[in-house]
Amino acid sequence: MNARTTRTLAAALSLTAALAISGCSSDSDGSGDSAKGKPSMTVSGGYMPEPVNDKMAGAFMVIKNDSKTADKLTGVTSPLSDDLQIHETKDQKMQQVPSMDVPANGELKLERGGNHVMFMGLKNTPKVGDKVTVELHFEKADPVKVELDVKERTYNAQNSNGH
Ligand code: CU
Repeated sequence: MNARTTRTLAAALSLTAALAISGCSSDSDGSGDSAKGKPSMTVSGGYMPEPVNDKMAGAFMVIKNDSKTADKLTGVTSPLSDDLQIHETKDQKMQQVPSMDVPANGELKLERGGNHVMFMGLKNTPKVGDKVTVELHFEKADPVKVELDVKERTYNAQNSNGH
């Protein structure tokens, strides 16, 4: 059976299934990067210290790039806020940056006193034990959904102080 026959049969059997298959195999962004090996990200230890009020909140995690392709974290979205920013900390002052490098075979650490995700304006104020969903967006890798654990305000995964 040749490929054309297979496709025709598949279409005849289920048009929906055939469309789903072709949708999955197409290059979603059209850049052709997938042929070169798209980076994929693993995120661990994501948490948010319980916010004091609904004005702002920080989020911390470790983003690991297991590929040979360097990438960048370019944005973060969440149902909790319409304005999420990527902040770095320099001379104990935080400032917004457009993106952050995730090195090839390396990791980007978002931690207290350093780089972090900042929620500006919250739709509600999460409490300890709640979960907050965020979606990380990258220049090359597919978006990654992460569930952040809301922790006590003093909680620190790295056991250092700051922010
Ligand atoms: Cu900040």
